[in-house]
Amino acid sequence: MKQIILSIVMTAMTQIANGQIGIDYRPQSRFTPPKNWINDPNGLVYHDGEYHLFYQYNPFGNVWGHMSWGHAVSKDLLHWEHLPVAIPEFTDSDGKTTAIFSGGAVVDKGNRSGLCPAGSKDCLIALYTGNVTAGDKQLVQYQNLAYSADKGRTWKQYDKNPILDIGSKEFRDPNAFWYEPEQKWVMATVKATEHRAAFYSSTDLKNWTLMSHFGPVGDTSKVWECPGLMQVPVHTEAGQPTGRSKWVLFISAGFPQKDYVGTQYFVGDFDGKTFTLDPAAQPKPVPSANDYAGALVDYGKDYYAAVPYNNLPASQPGPVMLGWHNNWAYGNELPTTPFKGAMSLPRQITLRQTQDGLQLVQQPIEGVRTLRGAQTNRQAIQLTSQSQTLEKATDNAYELEVELKPGTAKRVGLKLAKGTNEETILQYTDGKLQLDRRRSGNVSFSPRFPSVEEAPLRPKNGVIKLRIFVDKSVVEVFANDGERVITDLIFPTETAGGIDIFAEEGSAEFVKLTRWALKPIRQ
Ligand code: FRU
Repeated sequence: MKQIILSIVMTAMTQIANGQIGIDYRPQSRFTPPKNWINDPNGLVYHDGEYHLFYQYNPFGNVWGHMSWGHAVSKDLLHWEHLPVAIPEFTDSDGKTTAIFSGGAVVDKGNRSGLCPAGSKDCLIALYTGNVTAGDKQLVQYQNLAYSADKGRTWKQYDKNPILDIGSKEFRDPNAFWYEPEQKWVMATVKATEHRAAFYSSTDLKNWTLMSHFGPVGDTSKVWECPGLMQVPVHTEAGQPTGRSKWVLFISAGFPQKDYVGTQYFVGDFDGKTFTLDPAAQPKPVPSANDYAGALVDYGKDYYAAVPYNNLPASQPGPVMLGWHNNWAYGNELPTTPFKGAMSLPRQITLRQTQDGLQLVQQPIEGVRTLRGAQTNRQAIQLTSQSQTLEKATDNAYELEVELKPGTAKRVGLKLAKGTNEETILQYTDGKLQLDRRRSGNVSFSPRFPSVEEAPLRPKNGVIKLRIFVDKSVVEVFANDGERVITDLIFPTETAGGIDIFAEEGSAEFVKLTRWALKPIRQ
């Protein structure tokens, strides 16, 4: 009897230590599935008053597998209604199984595909990668089409699938958009192991013609995945539109620290056929020694597979992107149940003219301000080689706006989710913003999890601006009005976390410190 009780207690303690019970790691202000594993956002499209979010989903478990498209809709990109699986994995009569890998969706205005119901003004078309296997053997990756006449609720597979097959096992992640100047769709795909994006065009979504390739350039340490090509408005340093734009290509690829994945971006031009890198427009500093290395989109470990929305309404100017909060380096091992994985806050994308050249700017869409609850303001605080407790025990679900003058301090910053023996340190030191999660709580579930992230950052007029979201297990930091972003997962083992501020080896001033509780997006 004693033994049984001991074993139950031991199991419970291990589960608590692993964060499997007791602590709510479910982010409050971003999309998570009710249960099971998710990865990439798919089929991001606005149609008839609804933003669709499809996503890589395992309907049967809390680890990667049986890839299908899960589905949710929203009226504001923040509050989501969960819907049944939209496109499930299927097995043909010959025993071959097609998993529904990543892809995009478009609105077929005017029924150019001929697949919308007769007389309808439009319908939704999904283009995705069919990953075909027989038993344990992978046979091919090709591009398939599915269509929906009922606002994405039910889907039919196109009977002449695949629509694009080059006989490769590493050809995936189609992402198409309407290219107005030439009245055609353009689709970006990747030849993953060749580190090349391939661009195709079509006027009916069923027949595709190869136009050009891009790559290999930038980070080729990992396969290339999830391309996203978009036209991005250029703003002045002060944030005013210039009326000009550039084209930006996102590629989910490697990361400066070996063994991890991250997302790169390239700035250039697109003439309807070819994406050409513009070296003069390429942001500096670049993270690797390659001549035209792609710059990093997010300097944290947990923002991947980000792709843009199609067909956005005038009320929500684009580009707007969602990314997946996780990293393939430890993805399956995250200590959360009954779900695994979350989507980022929707990010508004612009390019900003700075003294370092053009910089990608990512900011939470305007609507995220509606999630602000109770507000706490602080007077300016001057610290000299000391620290101060700002809050003792928050619920680890808040937004924080900080403006600080690093002054003479060697290191200045905040300790977030601070418990008795744990803390997540966000600090500015010597031209860098660092996020240190080595003592953030449960870090032992994977040897690759404990880490320090680092982004180059320069004070502007002596001030560093930080917009920080701590959302249970997500820390998403937008620095200098979105010029740098660091996103990391954390798993504190205490339910409430404090906030400390500190300045080490010198003086610094926190001129603004405002905290808002985050309103949960679920009822
Ligand atoms: C990216 C990715 C895609 C693929 C999907 C499979 O995270 O590897 O390239 O289509 O996930 O789930």
